[in-house]
Amino acid sequence: MPNPNPMTADAQILTAMRRAGVGSVSGADLAQQLGMSRAAVWARIEELRKLGYEITANPHQGYRLLSTPDALHADDLLARLPDNQIVGRDIRVFEETNSTNDVAEKLARDGVKEGVVVFAEAQKKGRGRLGRHWLSPARKGLWFSVLLRPDLRPQSATQLTVVAATALARAIRRQTNLTPEIKWPNDILLRGKKVAGILTELSAELDHIKFVIIGIGVDVNLTSTDLPPDLRKIATSLRIESGQPVARPDLAAAILRELDADYARLRAGQFEALADEWVAQCTTIGRSVTIRIGDRVQRGVAESLDAEGALLLRTQHGRLERILGGDVTVEKS
Ligand code: BTN
Repeated sequence: MPNPNPMTADAQILTAMRRAGVGSVSGADLAQQLGMSRAAVWARIEELRKLGYEITANPHQGYRLLSTPDALHADDLLARLPDNQIVGRDIRVFEETNSTNDVAEKLARDGVKEGVVVFAEAQKKGRGRLGRHWLSPARKGLWFSVLLRPDLRPQSATQLTVVAATALARAIRRQTNLTPEIKWPNDILLRGKKVAGILTELSAELDHIKFVIIGIGVDVNLTSTDLPPDLRKIATSLRIESGQPVARPDLAAAILRELDADYARLRAGQFEALADEWVAQCTTIGRSVTIRIGDRVQRGVAESLDAEGALLLRTQHGRLERILGGDVTVEKS
């Protein structure tokens, strides 16, 4: 019987073993579910073992998943997400790319549906905001990009950065018990040092967004020796802050689940609630800041976010300015 499930056989096998938890799943049941022979299921299990999945096989009970490798595998990530997710419905993992944002942009121009996520174990030319380089060493972090096609005007693109920052901070908090702070517009900090960043790039016409690429970089398991000396003062990693390695596939799946949930809230017109959650974690709001936008310098107090996600800055002269981007320095209080 043909298998109607669009997930690959490996993703379905991993899903079934995960659902069984500490129990096992029988080879016969898997064979029936996948519409393949038991020998073919066995061959897939052997391939998964080669990738580092520790799977026991018991002739009476069947297969049981004992542990998973730290490497990112599309099938494994898919198996950790609910079937009806938009973000992550198509996942592609590369060993190395220049920038995952570029790969996602190419997919966007080829007409691929929104929700595709491109991960790379390493990036040769990772990009940060304001033309900066983004350090992306192999297997130490999560370097990925999400393609979205939201029904938004270009002026509201900042809302997506708010969505991404809120989801990212929540996923980090739930997975690690650390308490991330958000620095406007899109830095995630731990104890004042940057642990993750978001680079939102969009293609738009005058009145509507064609597509958005949300590029996310999370310093997961870098040690201080992985960080060049000039970065050590301003950057950190989840491993450095928690004192233990963090399982990257678990965190990746958690981020995609939170992103999907918050993107659904945005589509349902709930930006205000998201913005409230963002403000609650944002260390920039209520503080005196200096914002550099190109050659221009603005000083004032960061008051709040507006309905489009822009920062409202009360300048030294008492005017309220809308700020859409720039480099923020929070003054010491
Ligand atoms: C920043 O804080 O400056 C944004 C950093 C964004 C880095 C990520 S890593 C994955 C994606 N690909 C890139 O080249 N950049 C983003």
